[in-house]
Amino acid sequence: MADEMILTRPDDWHLHLRDGAMLAVTVPCSARSFGRAIIMPNLNPPITTVQQALAYRARILRHVPAQSAFEPLMTLYLTEATSGREIERAGAASAIAAVKLYPANATTHSEAGVSDWRRCDEALACMQEQGLPLLIHGEAITPGIDIFDREAVFLERELEPLIQRFPQLKVVLEHVTTAAAVEFVRQAPPRLAATITAHHLLLNRNDLLLGGLRPHHYCLPILKRERDRQALLAAASSGSPKYFLGTDSAPHARSSKESACGCAGIYTAPAALELYAEAFEQAGSLNRLEGFASHFGADFYALPRNTTAVRLRRESWSLPASYRYGRGAIVPLRAASPLQWRLIT
Ligand code: DOR
Ligand code: ZN
Repeated sequence: MADEMILTRPDDWHLHLRDGAMLAVTVPCSARSFGRAIIMPNLNPPITTVQQALAYRARILRHVPAQSAFEPLMTLYLTEATSGREIERAGAASAIAAVKLYPANATTHSEAGVSDWRRCDEALACMQEQGLPLLIHGEAITPGIDIFDREAVFLERELEPLIQRFPQLKVVLEHVTTAAAVEFVRQAPPRLAATITAHHLLLNRNDLLLGGLRPHHYCLPILKRERDRQALLAAASSGSPKYFLGTDSAPHARSSKESACGCAGIYTAPAALELYAEAFEQAGSLNRLEGFASHFGADFYALPRNTTAVRLRRESWSLPASYRYGRGAIVPLRAASPLQWRLIT
């Protein structure tokens, strides 16, 4: 097996950078590996206008290291009040790449999300016209649905009707976690794609619950069964352009994770590409990593592929136990424990 690989510089098609003091940690960590990243808008308050997105982008750019060409691709947070005019403005702004839909109360800062999709018809029709992709957190929020079933229920009840009602709309089903979602995407037309996180490729629900509750493995959609993880690995390493890299790297303060009511989110950005390499090696498909990490996402978004490259070397190394920012700390996935691949910068 090769001990060194050169890849087109990858992009992260789903990333949470947060705001304020955290940016000093999160922006350089992602800029180290990725050329571009789709920046999630679930701040508090959410990024619902083009003006807010451009101001947020400027705050991010202040933290991009001097030698890096890292480009944040901004998104708008869809609410039931998002107007067609705002979508038109987004379509005309080259810094805005997509619109994100959170079902109301499905996850972190999703209170302003959507309860009734029909109230978004004007915005969705406008996105379809503009060619602006809709990025979906695909979990059904009807009370009483088991947390492990929320994604599968969403596919049937919400996603299927949506893609039929808007036959030209480009859709990314974000962070798929189940065999059911992989199969749904496989059968759908090419305008539907999916991102897959490194943590859902590497962990199953035993890693969250067995031998003690592990708050740093808690994310949404929640980790699923081993057979689901195997289906994700097979999809990611299949060579199909419908599945591409989106870390959903989601930092929270350590105190908010190690809590009686801990926040959902896993901070994978500091070793994201290395973690994906580990997963692909497990699947015996390191040769398929480049398509997934560096080609298919750009192709789907109709953006040019990156022209620079990165080098991955087989080497044992470790991340710090935590990253300090302001008055808090963020614990990354695999903190202070060995990783098998290292990006050489
Ligand atoms: O685990 C998650 N964390 N899932 C999400 O959908 C949101 C994210 C966050 O923003 O913390
Ligand atoms: Zn996310």
